[in-house]
Parts: sequence; C-alpha cells; structure tokens
Amino acid sequence: MDPHHSLIALSEAMPKTELHLHIEGTFEPEQMFAIAQRNQVPLQYESMDALKAAYQFTNLQDFLDLYYQGMSVLLHEVDFYDLTMAYLTKVHSENVVHVEIFFDPQAHLSRGVPFDVQIKGIYNALQDAKKKWGMSSKLIMSFLRHLSEDSAFGTLEQATPFLSWIDGVGLDSSELGHPPEKFLRVFEVCKNLGLKVTAHAGEEGPPEYVWQAIEQIGVDRIDHGNRALEDELLIKTLQERQLTLTVCPLSNLKLCVVHDMKDHPITHMLQLGLNATVNSDDPAYFGGYMNDNYASLIRHTGIQKTELQQLAENGINGSWMSKQEKTKHLTALFALFL
Ligand code: ADE
Ligand code: ZN
Repeated sequence: MDPHHSLIALSEAMPKTELHLHIEGTFEPEQMFAIAQRNQVPLQYESMDALKAAYQFTNLQDFLDLYYQGMSVLLHEVDFYDLTMAYLTKVHSENVVHVEIFFDPQAHLSRGVPFDVQIKGIYNALQDAKKKWGMSSKLIMSFLRHLSEDSAFGTLEQATPFLSWIDGVGLDSSELGHPPEKFLRVFEVCKNLGLKVTAHAGEEGPPEYVWQAIEQIGVDRIDHGNRALEDELLIKTLQERQLTLTVCPLSNLKLCVVHDMKDHPITHMLQLGLNATVNSDDPAYFGGYMNDNYASLIRHTGIQKTELQQLAENGINGSWMSKQEKTKHLTALFALFL
C-alpha cells in the first residue's frame, strides 16, 4: 500500500484552481504531431519519442527554445480550440474548477497567425467548458519580455477589439536581462483599461525583479516568486500585502530552479505566511498537470493535510473570481476537510 495514498486521494478530490498555465505549454506530443500533419507543417523531430527525449532542460531558455518550436504548428482557429479543449478536458477530470490561462499572442503574430484566429479558438473552448461543466475561467494576454515594449504596445492595439474577452495581462519568456521595469508604460496603459496585471518574476531573475513588479508595475500577483525568499524585506512586503505567488513545483524541478523536489520551498513559503498556490505552468513539457504537482509535493516534501488545504484555499482566494464564486468553492473545499 502506498503510504501517500490517502493524502494523494485528498489532493485529487479538492476543488482546485489553476492560476499559472501557458496554453501553448499544454501541447502534448501526440496532439502536436497530429496538428502538424493536419496542417502539413514539418516538425524538427522524427517521432514523438525523439521529441520527448529532447525535454531535458538545464534552464528556462533551453525550455523556451523548444516551446516556441512546438507551437509553430498552430495555424488555424480550430488548432487553438483543440489545444485549449484538450487541456480543459484533462483538468476537468482532476477537479480543477477554475482556470486562468496565459496565451502568448506575439509568438503567433510573428509567424503570421492573426490575433483574432488565436483568441477566438481559445475563447470558444473556454466558453464551451463553462457550458459543459460549469468550469469558470479568465484569459491573460502575456507579453514576451525578450521583445521590446513597442512590440507589447502593438500587441495591445491588436487586442483592442477583444478586450472584453481578456481579463488580465502578464509578462513571460526569458527573464534574465529583461526586468519588469522595461514594460512600465504598457502596463500602466493596461491598468487604466481595467485589466488585471501579473508578471513572472523571481523564477530565474533576482529579488530586484520581484520588487519592480510590485513597486513599479503594481502587479495583482507574482508568477513564481521563488527568489523572493532571498530578501527578508521582500518576504515581509509580500506577507503584508497578501500577494499571491503562483508557484509551479514540477516546472521548478524541470527547469532546475530547484534541484530536488524534497527541497522545494513551497511549505516554507506557507510557514512564512506567504500566499503560495500550486500550478502547472507548461504541463506537457514538465511531466505533469495539477494533480501530478500535488502528488509530487506529497511524495517528496512531507507536506501535511492542513498545508494541502491552505494551498487550495490560497488558489481560490488568489484567483480573479468574484467574491461569490470564491465563497462557493471555499465552502466545497472546507466540507472535504471536516
Ligand atoms: N513561458 C512559458 N512558460 C514560461 C515560464 N515558466 N517562464 C517564463 N516564460 C514562460
Ligand atoms: Zn509560466
């Protein structure tokens, strides 16, 4: 009998939220090959096994190089719909009740795929998941930080007809050398448009980038935030402002942000009073979806039942759902722990 069985079963049963998920990072090799064939686009890898064997990363950039290559077969609205629906179907089976999804429009615009093609496919899948299962969602348009702020402004302009479908903006891609302050003006405009704001910070980048995200950009939450733990004043500030950190355990392991899951800092974050949450980032590349992330923490970190509840609670509270929706999910969560 697996000694972790009962905690894993509990984590699977919890109503969960996903707050840090790149839809292009859910592209499973099987689906990638099928869509490549459908669109008559060549892939650099001969077989799915050869592709999977390449998923060995030593840092963020190693991964990003493959991530941008993989998504290059997405051309039509139906491709974006199928990708999104496959992900939603998967996590519906894992009791994920609410998702907040990033997409990277610049990575598709640069290949000639129009903004409306991308967003219509993704949005229609989100709407269908709502109709089918009552799964709620938010859509986050992410700016690629290795590109210029002008490029981000151009993307925002393309997004203008679809702003009612977009709930927030984010900042992702290569972190080192591309601090949040590079995007100060575009985020200011986004905030004035009523969009929520989040940014990847402290994944590989220094605590200074987390400071910039909170003090200069004024983010509503921080994606990752691991390296905030190196700065005591920053920890205190994150605690005081009750900022949510969207932590991604399996991603951290695969990208060598942590070297062993037993050393993952998520329980330490909770002990420090930080609002850490569990998320899967790019599950097709990092070896697991939401429940796999919880299972790995349970197997390797000695995480306790109360901490599992806290993580799920933080996920609901840190989402951009209405107070009423949060209360509904919190009630269901608490009932499981009575
Ligand atoms: N884009 C997709 N996944 C990412 C990550 N973990 N960090 C930065 N950019 C990303
Ligand atoms: Zn990410």
